[in-house]
This record gives sequence, C-alpha cells and structure tokens, in this order.
Amino acid sequence: MTGIDVVRVELGARAYDVRIGAGLIARAGAEIAPLLQRPKVWIVTESRVAGLHLEALTAGLAASGIASEALILPPGETTKSWVHLQEVVEWLLGQKVERKDMVVAFGGGVIGDLVGFAAAILRRGVRFVQIPTSLLAQVDSSVGGKTGINSPHGKNLVGAFHQPSLVLADIGVLGTLSQRDFLAGYGEVVKYGGLGSLDFFEWLEANGPALAAGDAALRQQAVRRSVQMKADIVARDETEAGDRALLNLGHTFGHALEAATGYGDTLLHGEGVAIGCALAFETSARLGLMSQEEPSRFRAHLAAMGMKRDLADIRSELPNAAGLLGLMAQDKKVDGGRIRFILARGIGEAFMAEEVDLDVVRGVLTDALSAR
Ligand SMILES: NC(=O)c1ccc[n+]([C@@H]2O[C@H](COP(=O)([O-])OP(=O)(O)OC[C@H]3O[C@@H](n4cnc5c(N)ncnc54)[C@H](O)[C@@H]3O)[C@@H](O)[C@H]2O)c1
Repeated sequence: MTGIDVVRVELGARAYDVRIGAGLIARAGAEIAPLLQRPKVWIVTESRVAGLHLEALTAGLAASGIASEALILPPGETTKSWVHLQEVVEWLLGQKVERKDMVVAFGGGVIGDLVGFAAAILRRGVRFVQIPTSLLAQVDSSVGGKTGINSPHGKNLVGAFHQPSLVLADIGVLGTLSQRDFLAGYGEVVKYGGLGSLDFFEWLEANGPALAAGDAALRQQAVRRSVQMKADIVARDETEAGDRALLNLGHTFGHALEAATGYGDTLLHGEGVAIGCALAFETSARLGLMSQEEPSRFRAHLAAMGMKRDLADIRSELPNAAGLLGLMAQDKKVDGGRIRFILARGIGEAFMAEEVDLDVVRGVLTDALSAR
C-alpha cells in the first residue's frame, strides 16, 4: 500500500479526516472501528458499485470484526429522490439503527448526497461515513456536508448540511470508472485550479493526461490537492454565507446546460462544470478582467484531456441565449432575483461578482451557440 494522505476538515466539534490512498476499502474496518459504539455498520450503496466493490468492503470490515448489512439501490441520478430517501430511512429504522450507530454511504455523489441526507434526518441525525467511489465524489461531493435529493422542481432543492464523521477515498476504486465518468469528475478537479490555484492548474496541464491514463500516484496527488482546497474553503465558510460560493465556479452556466439537456446522459454534471468554467472565463475576459489568452488556455487543457469544452461539443438541441439565461435565473443560488456569477481575474483567481452586465453574458452565449 502506498502512503495515505490525510486532510483534516477543521470544523470544531464537527471536524473530521478525509483519508486518501489506495487500499483504504480493504482496511475500512481498522479505519472505522475507533468511531463505533458497537461492531456493526449499515451500508447503503447502488448496484453498479456493489457488483464491483461491495465484497471487498464487507471483507475489509469483517477483518476488524465489524458486521455489516447492505441496502443496494439502483444506480443513477434518479435515485436521489423522495422515493429512495424514504426507502433508505425506513430500511435504517427497520434495522433499528440508533443515533450513535454508523451508516456508510458507499458510491458516487448520488449515494453520498442521498445517504447523507437520510442520516441527517434519521432520529434527528445519525453519524455517517462517506466512502466515495467516483472521482467527482472523492474530490467534491463527499467533503463539506452538503446532502440532499432532487425534487420535480429541480436538482438538489431539498437537503441539509450534515457533515460526515470520516471520509475514506480509496484511489484504487477509480480504476473501474468508465473513462467518461472519470473525466466528468476531472471537470471538478480542474475547477479547483481555475478558482484558486494557477500552480495547481499548471500541474494539471503537465500531469492531467498521465493521471487520466491511470497513474495512481498522480491521481492521489490530484485528489489530495482538490480536497485540501475544498476543506480550506469549507472550514472558512461551512454554510456558504460567503467564500464557499467560489466552489460554484462554472456551475451557474453548467446547471443551465444540465437543465437544458434534461440532467441525463447527454451532459454529465462534471462535463457541464468544465464547459461552465470555460464560459465563466470567457465572460471574465470580455469584461476586461483577464486577457483573452486565459479562456483559450483553459479550453486548450480540456481539449488535451479529450473533454467537452464548448457548447459545440453538446450533441443535442439547446435553447437560445435568452432561454439559457432564463434557466440560470432558476438556479437555487439566485439571490433576490439576481443571478450570482463567479468570475475570475485570471486562472486561479476567482471571485464572487456582485453586478454582472447580462448583455455581456448574452453575448458570450450567443457567440458560443453560433459556433455550433
Ligand atoms: N454534495 C455536494 O457537495 C456535491 C458536489 C458535487 C456534486 N454533487 C452531486 O453528485 C452527483 C454526481 O456524482 P457522481 O458523478 O459521482 O454520480 P454517480 O453517483 O451517479 O456516479 C457516476 C457513475 O459512476 C458509477 N460509479 C461510481 N463509482 C464507480 C466505480 N468505482 N466504478 C465504476 N463505476 C462507478 C455510478 O454507478 C454512476 O453510473 C450529482 O447528484 C451532484 O448533484 C454533490
């Protein structure tokens, strides 16, 4: 086993470790045992992840004398729903899970968000461990305590802040992700470079292709640096009263594109974020905040990674610029009717823009649409 990196999320009484490295699932029992009141955990996962990795997890727990029960849900975004929330909560109640017990969320962001929310409301809050299995979940959704489900009114509209007690990011499981899911997660990795660290972005320019090809040491470094950046921001602003909004770089555009394409296979969340970052940089350049070379450089890196980088890469009908702006105005981050944009003064220098001239945004979208 290579070395394990530990990032501490400093949240006072709710502080916790994110442990990152290969082989963590095999030693999950030893990692989790110190947190348990009795030697049993309840795992909630989905069938794709269960088929590939559940046996390894139960064996890893059993190796430390920890018994487990598992609930296996269907994979996919539609699982983040009222129906499955009820199923998880009722299953845990039926299993007589108590407040001091430990629930384990084992899967990508869908499982992490759903199970975290179930843990938040079960008996007014039970503890849970995140074992994220997708790159997106390892670098983003498993850290920071945002949990929730989708409503027919929109994505992530029902939820709670509920921090996990521990996060185990086993780099080894990333090996079974499809290339497309891996690169979608990479969209969030490159976002961290874009929002807060030119140095990290340059490191990704140099190492991204090798990392995508499977280099485990580089993957671990990328996850560690991403998690460290998220942990630092969350520690400063747990509930998004300020700085945490920077993590939404690319998301205002991305969410509109996800909504326009039906939140499905046409455009994955991380793909929307990557294109959204490129559009946010383009908008910043048009506003004179950065040189035109910077959005071009950002897009060139996405191209080198074989990722979608522009509206032209989305293979479905899209609304016109006014339609996309309308979708942005429905985002849950709209504040008093104003769309909140994260812009940047350069790659790695994002900030929350107070007033953005929507004509400039409309122009960026119109040009991007006409290039299709
Ligand atoms: N809470 C937060 O802060 C936060 C942040 C970002 C995204 N999210 C949410 O995360 C979700 C997206 O997460 P995601 O991309 O992980 O989606 P996901 O959970 O659907 O996983 C993506 C795909 O990868 C598969 N998969 C997962 N791990 C695998 C593995 N090791 N091997 C093979 N296949 C594997 C899944 O079955 C699925 O098909 C969205 O619902 C989004 O809203 C939440």
